[in-house]
Amino acid sequence: MTAPETPVLARVRAGQPTLWTNPDYAPEPDPEAAAGLATAVADWQAIAPLLAALFPELGPAGTITSDLIDIGALRAPLGYDTPAVGPLLLKADHALPVAGSVKARGGVFEVVMTAIAQARAAGLLRPGESPAALLSPQARAFFAARSVAVGSTGNLGLSVGIAARALGYRAVVHMSADAKAWKVERLRALGVEVVRHAADYTSAVAAARAASEADPLSAFVDDEDSELLFRGYSAAARELAGQLDALGLTIGPERPLLLYLPCGIGGAPGGVAWGARGMFGPDVHPFFVEPVQSPSALVQMARGVEVPSSVYDLGLSNRTEADGMAVATMSALVARRMTRRLAGVFTVGDDDLLRSLALAHDTAGLRLEPSAAAGFAGPHFTALSPQGAGFRARHLPPERAAQAVHVVWATGGSFVPDARFRGFLDAGRALGTSLDFSRT
Ligand SMILES: Cc1ncc(COP(=O)(O)O)c(C=O)c1O
Repeated sequence: MTAPETPVLARVRAGQPTLWTNPDYAPEPDPEAAAGLATAVADWQAIAPLLAALFPELGPAGTITSDLIDIGALRAPLGYDTPAVGPLLLKADHALPVAGSVKARGGVFEVVMTAIAQARAAGLLRPGESPAALLSPQARAFFAARSVAVGSTGNLGLSVGIAARALGYRAVVHMSADAKAWKVERLRALGVEVVRHAADYTSAVAAARAASEADPLSAFVDDEDSELLFRGYSAAARELAGQLDALGLTIGPERPLLLYLPCGIGGAPGGVAWGARGMFGPDVHPFFVEPVQSPSALVQMARGVEVPSSVYDLGLSNRTEADGMAVATMSALVARRMTRRLAGVFTVGDDDLLRSLALAHDTAGLRLEPSAAAGFAGPHFTALSPQGAGFRARHLPPERAAQAVHVVWATGGSFVPDARFRGFLDAGRALGTSLDFSRT
């Protein structure tokens, strides 16, 4: 017998903006995540000389980092001009170098770490030798005989394709029907082979996996189940901590941190949330954000991580302008890791994504893609909405509300071609400035 549907899932089924708070949520010190974060930071440091050589835009430091921006100008338009909402900041991964999205943190990391492992196994890189040795003609010839494959809605394909081509690999990107044409064109211009699938993201990943497994010289970046991607994303938490300290907003029991992380398969937000738990212990509350038609993490986490769940089970379409989040089934790896670490998940309608995108541009000069505009609803759900009353009672008492720092993670957009961006902007402006989520 199936359990009766909860009121939250009934809202989700109806396509309403919804907050689900995690009943198993346990913000606490997390030595496992802290150790994982330390490894991730050390790995990024080790590959920095190679990254500096591969991508001159990174400068001599070879770091892939983004700014943390004060978006106080957006408080009034978003309805956050109240002491109930503390400092409002935006993590500008939409402008990350190399790939123009949060996927640069995972995809570039996994490709480079894979290259290092392959070169070590082949005796092309000796223990203790700088990974910059991978730039040698011998190493390039070695990579040219191999390929890297990935299935993607677009941005992971861009980041993996760019990194793989930079090292000299053949790169094959399998893209779902949701992938935008400009992402396909950009990849092809880099010499990446793009295989387009008529079906959704899950099918594209399955096809990519099968094709890659049939080729012993192909390495597969498995977006649904990758330790390396997860680790790559997680290091962002260390970067964020340094930036918050520099702004005088050091996180602690009196000043908690709320993170709003756009979610597709879950790797990027999961990795960042994991790193943040390692960095800030009990003082961070990570939330995932999803489109109302693609709430794969919400459905999976709400039903329990052991029950494979899809948004199609609830009669949802998985259709959204937020192409990076058009995912019907969450990663099982991420779901397990988030069981006690994720504070909750909320959903946002496509009209609000476009309205928020236009507001972010017109008020703060930001260039976001629709996926990246999802997090702006976060302070509403956690600090203001009746749906967040239970969360506030347990984790955000009124005396701490004005200090709590809200970070909207903007995950992509700077690579969007002008004409496409103009289209999003016009559509968002035409919808007006009244946000649907603010009435929930
Ligand atoms: C712009 C953007 N935001 C968020 C995400 C979600 O990341 P993940 O699929 O790892 O959950 C993606 C994924 O491609 C993306 O492209």
